[in-house]
Amino acid sequence: MQRLLIANWKMNCDYKEAGELADFYRTHLKSSQNIHLVVCPPAIWLEDLAKIFKNSHIELGVQNISNLEYGAITGEISASMVKEFAKYVICGHSERRKFFHESDELINQKIKIALKHNLMPILCVGEEVKGDNNSFLFQVSKGLAGISKKDIKKVIIAYEPVWAISSNQGSKAASPDYAAEIIDSIRDRLAVIYGREISEKIKILYGGSVNSKNIKSFTDCQTIDGFLVGGASLKAEGFKNIYNSLI
Ligand code: PGA
Repeated sequence: MQRLLIANWKMNCDYKEAGELADFYRTHLKSSQNIHLVVCPPAIWLEDLAKIFKNSHIELGVQNISNLEYGAITGEISASMVKEFAKYVICGHSERRKFFHESDELINQKIKIALKHNLMPILCVGEEVKGDNNSFLFQVSKGLAGISKKDIKKVIIAYEPVWAISSNQGSKAASPDYAAEIIDSIRDRLAVIYGREISEKIKILYGGSVNSKNIKSFTDCQTIDGFLVGGASLKAEGFKNIYNSLI
């Protein structure tokens, strides 16, 4: 089984740190047919990292794009700007929903513009409070509104329960069984929208406090197509352990 591993560096790493971490990834994370590795650094380091990862198995993504093509929107970065370097874009991360008040409608527009520019969107969904099962299904349906059967094949879903994200106080990863159960329900929702056959092909990842200590507990679970790793992707040796656990 090939798993997708996404390293979300969030707003971490200055120029020197980003270069060193990328060099470490390039040198120590050996190509394997079992892992597809995507690094999402702060957008300002994309060009430098593209040079470091050139001719390697490591691909780049971004953590966000604008919902609009171009224009007078101070501080934003468009899909056409990042597509020179990146193949993936995280859309609707819970931190963007929370700190930037991103709505499902806005996230839907970002997914559409990403697809238009041949970027693969990674739609993040997840409930704030454990047990609130409807919110992420709602986020899936709203986030994917109007996405065709052809385009959905390029979309990745990341189930990231907000309560499990490591930067939230007292957080703890969801258990593999819990994550698998939710992923199944997301896949059922996708089957309602796109049909079972297409839904089976969509990659659904888990994210939230995945680290070098708990990764092994997740690896047997075939329902989870990969992982979105935040904090633990910044610790070189620890991330290497995560990576090697998936080989
Ligand atoms: P975490 O973050 O691995 O630090 O919990 C995951 C994410 O927010 O994408």
